[in-house]
Amino acid sequence: MSGLMARPFLLVQLSDPHIGAEWADGDPVAGLATAVESIRPMRPDAVLVSGDLSDNASDAEYEQVRDLLAPLRVPLHVLPGNHDDRHALRRHFPLPGAGDDPVHYSADLGPLRLVVLDTTRPGEDPGQLDAEQLGWLDAELAAAPNAPTLLAMHHPPLVTGVPAWDAICLPAADRQALRDVLEHHRQVRRLVAGHLHCTFAGELADRTVLTVPSTYAQARLEFGAQEIELTTEPAGFAVHAMLDGQLISHNQLVDA
Ligand SMILES: [Fe+2]
Ligand SMILES: [Fe+2]
Repeated sequence: MSGLMARPFLLVQLSDPHIGAEWADGDPVAGLATAVESIRPMRPDAVLVSGDLSDNASDAEYEQVRDLLAPLRVPLHVLPGNHDDRHALRRHFPLPGAGDDPVHYSADLGPLRLVVLDTTRPGEDPGQLDAEQLGWLDAELAAAPNAPTLLAMHHPPLVTGVPAWDAICLPAADRQALRDVLEHHRQVRRLVAGHLHCTFAGELADRTVLTVPSTYAQARLEFGAQEIELTTEPAGFAVHAMLDGQLISHNQLVDA
């Protein structure tokens, strides 16, 4: 046996770049550009952006997001956050469906299957997972029961104990309904999300749920906070590495 191991398959997850935002210190364009520069040497196999690509859902902002991500030269998978607009997102990224339909799809990345859910409730900050969306998920997972799967969405299906955060996440009934679907699909290895601009892990249906930081601004962990508070912590992204059937998720901070 040689000591050489195969190179892992790498799916990099960026989140919440909020291009066009002016509500925090720092420049969202520089934040995304710096993250892209630190990702490039890793030569990822695919990139996922887990929502809030733009702050105001304007065409100019989405064009800028595309330009900033272009140096990665890999397949790009995006999903909407509460700041995005489904129709506008479809104008700038190749996505299935039309107009304002929920953006859900799956992508066979090779050793890993990516399944994307749309947790947005247009015009509002909290999310939702309705019966139509969960019915689609159940059927989509049933179609590939043996493919190791990463399930991605914007709103984390967790309760955090921070009132300001929980007020803008998914209703308890929707988290329960998602858990019920996952009970029938053991191939889902991990759930990943963004939205809260903070890194944490929890679980749903015995699978790890991981949230990743924003490339723009980070939220401060303050139990009991009724309003979202920001910090000057560094930006970051996640690297989901698949090797010999094992999925390892790294959280990487970005040097400012
Ligand atoms: Fe966000
Ligand atoms: Fe968000």
